[in-house]
Amino acid sequence: MKVLIVGSGYVGLTTGSALAYLGHEITLLDINEDRILRLRDGEVPIHERGLAEVLEESKENIQFTSSWEDFNSNVDIVIIAVGTPNKGNGDVDLTYVEIVAKSVGERLTENSHAVIVNKSTVPIGSAKRVKTIIEHELKKRGIVKNIEVASNPEFLREGEALYDTFYPDRIVIGVETDTAKHRLLSLYQPLLEQTFTAPRSVKRPDGVSLPSIITTSPTSAELIKYAANSFLAMKISFVNEFASLAELVGADITEVAKGIGLDKRIGSRFLQAGIGWGGSCFGKDTAAILYTANQYNYDMPLVQATIKTNYKQRETIIRKLQLELKVLRGATIGVLGLAFKPNTDDLRDAPSLDIIRGLIELGAIVKAFDPIAMTNCRVQNRDLDVQYAQSAQELFEGCDGVVLITEWEEFLHLPYSKLAKRMKKKLIIDGRNVLDKEALRKSGIIYRGIGRGETG
Ligand code: UGA
Repeated sequence: MKVLIVGSGYVGLTTGSALAYLGHEITLLDINEDRILRLRDGEVPIHERGLAEVLEESKENIQFTSSWEDFNSNVDIVIIAVGTPNKGNGDVDLTYVEIVAKSVGERLTENSHAVIVNKSTVPIGSAKRVKTIIEHELKKRGIVKNIEVASNPEFLREGEALYDTFYPDRIVIGVETDTAKHRLLSLYQPLLEQTFTAPRSVKRPDGVSLPSIITTSPTSAELIKYAANSFLAMKISFVNEFASLAELVGADITEVAKGIGLDKRIGSRFLQAGIGWGGSCFGKDTAAILYTANQYNYDMPLVQATIKTNYKQRETIIRKLQLELKVLRGATIGVLGLAFKPNTDDLRDAPSLDIIRGLIELGAIVKAFDPIAMTNCRVQNRDLDVQYAQSAQELFEGCDGVVLITEWEEFLHLPYSKLAKRMKKKLIIDGRNVLDKEALRKSGIIYRGIGRGETG
């Protein structure tokens, strides 16, 4: 199938490379010329596990362009995967989606049979909006034509986006006609039947089950995306709310999470207590769904509480440091990890940034180390008065306390008892509950996790 994907962020690029790998003929369009040139040169501009290898293996089937002049009106599917940033008040900025819709509308012809697909996370009604814009543009050129716009939300975790593309739990397609439905079913057939040879860099897990297909209306598909992200965010806030109570009553939240997660109705994933969620999705999507609900004069107290609990977790870290060190003015605090989660250099809504700002406001000296996100941090936060360490080892030097913020694999195996000897005070706050508290305590370290009994 001939597919045009617009937007080369982690969704567009991973979707494009996976579909090319499956044998479709992909054109990836992004108006960012520099990014396109880099992609043409074989450079992979984002950190995604397995992406470089899959792109290399499928290069015959994928071409990159920054020009709408290359638009082929015979294309079977156009996938819109451009950014949909938050306007700051919860509302979603659809400017980029609308520009794409207009550009497509300006180029489709009488004979085009393309199905347009919204993959970007967009507010309810966006499929209709895109359809209206395209049809309006066609009409300007005297073409009266019914355009099919489907909603096909993605459920890709950044860093694991290719894995989630190749081995999804479900594929949701929101369509109005059988034509659009069958077009999307053929696009995803190799995934639905798992008939493809697994890429070497993204192996098929043993016993993987075939993905379910949900065919529904565009509006339901749009709402599924927001409900999924709100629910996942709520699950994390739920466990974090219990983590704070666990501290008060002297229970260990990691045991509590295990104890509830084994109930299949609850499920064990996304019950990792810590400093809460960040990233470009949960914060934006929970705010967006509240904005939508508000337009209907409808309250969503669960979503509101999910957000409130999440951001309180970031303050919890500072309270824990205050509890141990009393005065933070003049204290040196080491921050282990900047990215909002491991295996990415993404700093959007990263808890690290709020925590660092809070510490600086209280007069602390902040040192930081992250295996890959330091360059982004330097460029994006020039005002941030942080000393960047060259290594985790260097970070510990002279610290009154170290906070583990991102659970990078390499941080799980650091020689903590040795490193603690470099500190002024052997205090480690484990913001992700990933360290062996007994081992650390045995070596004389004051260990504080999130909701792990007594003082945490
Ligand atoms: C999330 C969803 O997981 C994807 O399904 C969705 O497609 C994507 O948003 C999106 O809307 O595009 P992502 O933001 O990449 O993906 O990251 P996650 O792996 O879901 O983690 C989100 C945050 O939750 C991270 O900060 C992580 O540290 C935190 N988290 C996750 C916890 O604090 N506890 C947990 O148990 C799990």
